[in-house]
Amino acid sequence: MKIIIKDSYESMSDAAFSVMKEVLSSVSKPVLGLATGTTPIGLYDRMIRDHRENGTSYRNVTTVNLDEYIGLGSDHDQSYAYFMRDRLLSHLDVAESNINIENGLAEDAEKECKRYDSVLEKYPRDIQLLGLGENGHIAFNEPWTPFDSRTHTVRLTESTILANSRLFDRLEDVPRSAFTMGIKDIMDAKIILILANGEKKADAVRRMVKGEVTEEVPASILQRHPKCILITDGEAAAEIL
Ligand code: F6R
Repeated sequence: MKIIIKDSYESMSDAAFSVMKEVLSSVSKPVLGLATGTTPIGLYDRMIRDHRENGTSYRNVTTVNLDEYIGLGSDHDQSYAYFMRDRLLSHLDVAESNINIENGLAEDAEKECKRYDSVLEKYPRDIQLLGLGENGHIAFNEPWTPFDSRTHTVRLTESTILANSRLFDRLEDVPRSAFTMGIKDIMDAKIILILANGEKKADAVRRMVKGEVTEEVPASILQRHPKCILITDGEAAAEIL
């Protein structure tokens, strides 16, 4: 794992953008694996700025996202499809037909997982962007998810449901489950770019980088990826220095 430590979130996002830009300029039809959450926002802002100011085109780009809540349509403002449009995709010239994310309203969840796995097979990712959970999760793969997992459904933990409830009118409206790419799917990407910032991530960063490779810490499997780049700020890197 290549580790790049920057002194602020802004310079971390600059470094992440350089990695992304290298893929965009060296591959003719790039496939980008994307993530939601707060960590990649600085990178997404830079991609939007580069498109607006330098005319970098995303016409040949295909995107595949990590995960989506079950029960939320893409128009729901808490869905990950909505987040991706709002924070990145509607600001770029990516063709609508090249945007892939699990369908939160799919009637048959098992069928939807299979459909998504065939999307992932059809579009091998040149790069997969990841954020890191405080417990070492990647995508919605919580501790003890098998390393050989493909797209699957997960039941959210009570603490995640409670944490999410602040964004909904009623507790009953908070999704109880989600679709997620599996760990094997994540590992299939040619390059993995994982970002982590802030002191809350320091323990997970240490366990990911220096700990045993174990299903208890899903991100620890990244030690075995041939081309994984970790970009952190000083706070998240505090326990690996
Ligand atoms: C996002 C995702 C999650 C987040 C992780 C970190 O699609 O799958 O694994 O990457 O929870 O979240 P933030 O960036 O909000 O700290």
